[in-house]
Amino acid sequence: MGMLLLLLVLLPLAAFPHTRGRLDSEQQEAMGPRAPVILIIGAGISGLGAAEKLHKHGFHNIKVLEATARTGGRIRTQSFAKGLVEIGAQWIHGPSPGNPVFRLASQFALLSPDALLEENQKINVGGHPSDIPVIYSSSGKKINPEVFANITELYNTWLEETRNFTDGECEPGASVGSFLRQKIVENSKGWDKELVEINLAFLTGLLNIECCISGTHSMDDVALCPFREYTMFPGLDCTFPKGYESLVNHIKAPLPDGTVILNKPVKNIHWNGAFRDNNSDVYPVKVQCEDGDSFVADHVIVTVPLGFLKKRYLDFFNPPLPQIKIQAIKNLGFGTNNKILLEFEKPFWDPNTTYIQTVWEGDSPLTEPNKDLKQNWVRKLSGCVVLEPPGQLGHVLCCFIAGKESEFMETLTDEEILSSMTDLFRKMTGNPELPPPISILRSQWHSQPYTGGSYSYVAVGSSGIDVNNLAEPLPTDKEALKPMQVLFAGEATERNYYSTTHGALMTGWREAQRLIDRYPELRATVSKAKL
Ligand SMILES: Cc1cc2nc3c(=O)[nH]c(=O)nc-3n(C[C@H](O)[C@H](O)[C@H](O)COP(=O)(O)OP(=O)(O)OC[C@H]3O[C@@H](n4cnc5c(N)ncnc54)[C@H](O)[C@@H]3O)c2cc1C
Ligand SMILES: *[C@@H]1O[C@H](CO)[C@@H](O)[C@H](O)[C@H]1NC(C)=O
Ligand SMILES: *[C@@H]1O[C@H](CO)[C@@H](O)[C@H](O)[C@H]1NC(C)=O
Ligand SMILES: *[C@@H]1O[C@H](CO)[C@@H](O)[C@H](O)[C@H]1NC(C)=O
Ligand SMILES: *[C@@H]1O[C@H](CO)[C@@H](O)[C@H](O)[C@H]1NC(C)=O
Repeated sequence: MGMLLLLLVLLPLAAFPHTRGRLDSEQQEAMGPRAPVILIIGAGISGLGAAEKLHKHGFHNIKVLEATARTGGRIRTQSFAKGLVEIGAQWIHGPSPGNPVFRLASQFALLSPDALLEENQKINVGGHPSDIPVIYSSSGKKINPEVFANITELYNTWLEETRNFTDGECEPGASVGSFLRQKIVENSKGWDKELVEINLAFLTGLLNIECCISGTHSMDDVALCPFREYTMFPGLDCTFPKGYESLVNHIKAPLPDGTVILNKPVKNIHWNGAFRDNNSDVYPVKVQCEDGDSFVADHVIVTVPLGFLKKRYLDFFNPPLPQIKIQAIKNLGFGTNNKILLEFEKPFWDPNTTYIQTVWEGDSPLTEPNKDLKQNWVRKLSGCVVLEPPGQLGHVLCCFIAGKESEFMETLTDEEILSSMTDLFRKMTGNPELPPPISILRSQWHSQPYTGGSYSYVAVGSSGIDVNNLAEPLPTDKEALKPMQVLFAGEATERNYYSTTHGALMTGWREAQRLIDRYPELRATVSKAKL
């Protein structure tokens, strides 16, 4: 044991030609860097991506501390019906060579042959369901999507216009919602009288889908001018036949045993300090865990979700975060999008249906929604994706719901949700005898203490500058004696690709690269070793 410890201490030191054996801490500081000790908080795709990249570049003193009992974070695959379903991330958005998640998934051979077709990689869907939906209305009628073809096309043009604003062209309070509503008001003047109600109801449904995509309660909360900064790769969205977690498992595979420590929630991070380990080496950072354990480090990469930071930024950092970071955490949006998965004995939808959209007659984007959540939460549902392949999985719908209604849904029991969903489908199909689903599984991302919602968006009152400020390492003082003590990664720190798995992965790699660049002597050792 003693021998092993000694080896662990000496091996990294040996990597530095100018560090000679054991030194007292003052001497050591004068001599320059020792082998850097790095902690990563959170074992989602950003944290594991950072760990793997650092490991590959010769950093051997890395630990990943994860609060929960599993790796993957918001990538979470689970058994359901006769196969696997996703509780969190489902698609690779924009699977084409620019997308690092697509590149890794192809390299690890995790995708179906379809997803690898070049023609698939060129299709541009702009993050929306690409298939023509089957539309059910609350009066029990199936509506031909052709009826809404013109409205859908208009809506898509308006959305494109929201992405055409440039900085400074909008009022400070301008939102995507207010812009779209103004377009709806103007355009509705030319509609046939008998179509007004159903058109407005249909548009409410389209806005509900938009809320799920942005992970927000209302598009009125999403800032107009920065909306264009969100960038999409081309490619027809695809899924992982063996589950999204198969990607996470491949990313973490090269890490030595013991690198990732599960069930280790971090309580707070002390930085700008001088903390000693058992060998009396001095480190600027100490991480205190909920269970009393503590870890010292030269650098800590924080990848916890923005939803967690919003609740905990006050006591999570000591000394506290600079005001500019606190503002970013408060200003940026972090909302809820949940899934309700339902398995049916027999499908009530036609063969070849890929997406079911529900339209509530009487709903309108121009009036306030009913505030009685208990009675009305189900109206916020944006629609249901028919999961494939039915042969292996069974007949499963994956329904999406965002915002306060989604957070309310999390407080209900499975039985209550099943009953509301059965009522919904009976109403929509006009069949009061429609058999209920045989099983249900739903996500509860808002209630997860270490997540606090689904993903980030640029809210009214914030801008991409807040995202950059959130990503800035501490101390921010460029002359600091010990720079980059606390680094920030995670989906919410990527200005152009936030709210996605590829955005999260990019930020993990970005922060790893920052440290790789900081230790050029380590890089030299790695390349020598390769020769
Ligand atoms: C319902 C849903 C659907 C989605 N669909 C898609 C999709 O189709 N395509 C797509 O690209 N993206 C999708 N996303 C977004 C995607 O899942 C995330 O952007 C991405 O997984 C975030 O990775 P991350 O590493 O930044 O954060 P996370 O995966 O959240 O990892 C952070 C980790 O930090 C841990 N942690 C938090 N606090 C502490 C603490 N105090 N101590 C120790 N550990 C802590 C957490 O437990 C977690 O494991 C979806 C997300 C949700 C919720
Ligand atoms: C859709 O628009 C076309 C051309 O602008 C028009 O001819 C057609 O009548 C419209 N259809 C509906 C259902 O409004
Ligand atoms: C948005 O801008 C692009 C590029 O300038 C232009 O081609 C497109 O027509 C614009 N779209 C709308 C709806 O204004
Ligand atoms: C110091 O050693 C004790 C006993 O071996 C161990 O429990 C503790 O985790 C160590 N502390 C640090 C900071 O390494
Ligand atoms: C379903 O799609 C297949 C293949 O595209 C087609 O051959 C079949 O006729 C379709 N079935 C129905 C009921 O539309």
